Amino acid sequence: MASAARSATRAFLRSTPATSSFRPAVRSARFALPAQGFRSSARRGYASEAGQKSGGSGAIWAFALAAAGGAGAYFYLNGESAPAGPFVPTKEDYQKVYDAIAQRLANETDYDDGSYGPVLVRLAWHASGTYDKMTGTGGSNGATMRFAPESDHGANAGLKHARDFLEPIKAQFPWITYSDLWTLAGAAAIQELGGPVIPWRPGREDKDVAACTPDGRLPDASKNQDHIRAIFGRMGFDDREMVALSGAHALGRAHTDRSGYEGPWDFSPTVFTNDYFKLLVDEKWSQRKWNGPAQFTDKTTSTLMMLPTDIALIKDKVFRKHVDRYAKDQDAFFKEFSDVYVKLLELGVPFKTEERFVFKASE
Ligand code: HEM
Repeated sequence: MASAARSATRAFLRSTPATSSFRPAVRSARFALPAQGFRSSARRGYASEAGQKSGGSGAIWAFALAAAGGAGAYFYLNGESAPAGPFVPTKEDYQKVYDAIAQRLANETDYDDGSYGPVLVRLAWHASGTYDKMTGTGGSNGATMRFAPESDHGANAGLKHARDFLEPIKAQFPWITYSDLWTLAGAAAIQELGGPVIPWRPGREDKDVAACTPDGRLPDASKNQDHIRAIFGRMGFDDREMVALSGAHALGRAHTDRSGYEGPWDFSPTVFTNDYFKLLVDEKWSQRKWNGPAQFTDKTTSTLMMLPTDIALIKDKVFRKHVDRYAKDQDAFFKEFSDVYVKLLELGVPFKTEERFVFKASE
């Protein structure tokens, strides 16, 4: 959707002097490459570990796999003989999945502002944000967004792009569950787009359609601070954590054919920064005059947008305190965002391990 707003943003990027307080340090991936992302190097190939390990008896094991099904039933051959036992992935195996996601992010730039990263961050969040602490239902354990009705919930419109983007990775590493893959991809996208390290743990299991959550568990952008507190409170987050999580809107954009809203929150939608908070504080935001849902636009360029729920963060005194803090201190934002995104991705997951992996970002 090559929208007018995006063209205008690009034109603005080209014409705005670097001294402008609203000019990002690093621009959209289409124009400049973020510090840690989008290396075009073919350093990492797509050699399938699974394929290599299964040696010459692929057909037999493909049959065994098909018969057994499920992540736990993934075996590999040790040398030429019988399997050594169930495949137990190590940190190195998960790093290979990370690398494959990073490589695919670097290669597949013909999407939105040049990266699938933002929509991966959103997939991981929407898979996790259905959690209800009272009933213990929902959350990233299950990846039930693979199925209707959850995939058809209005809030999940457009996330098929992210799920489809990850299918070749799932095919390359069939042993990983969708629930682990989607959350790992969210963590990888934050790191590859220049954000903080997101330590990650495996252990989620996919569930079937019966575990789909009811519609209405994810936030409605047209609402106010009470709604934000009700939705995120149900997941178990406090005010500070709600504000930190919202900082993910430094990434990506809204699409009229998905949510009905339109535009990016800042000038570098493929680079993770604290610009969302800076702009919330420094810009003047007025109601956009258009034939769409109520949203806000910046006075300086009229190319950016804020949702009613974003503006609620500066209207509410307690939320505002954290917005101001993150606007002034990117390090504090990065640290607190990392902690809370890790917590989000782990809601309701019965992990068998305390150990989290820190993945090496691409160079
Ligand atoms: C009150 C809370 C929130 C509301 C109402 C909200 C709403 C929205 C809406 C309406 C969009 C545009 C979707 C589209 O049209 O494509 C969006 C995009 C996005 N949201 Fe949120 N969101 C919230 C919180 C979060 C959180 C907690 C995260 C992650 C930690 C997040 C990450 C994203 C990202 C990365 C995008 C861009 C996706 C893309 O570029 O395709 N959001 N959000």
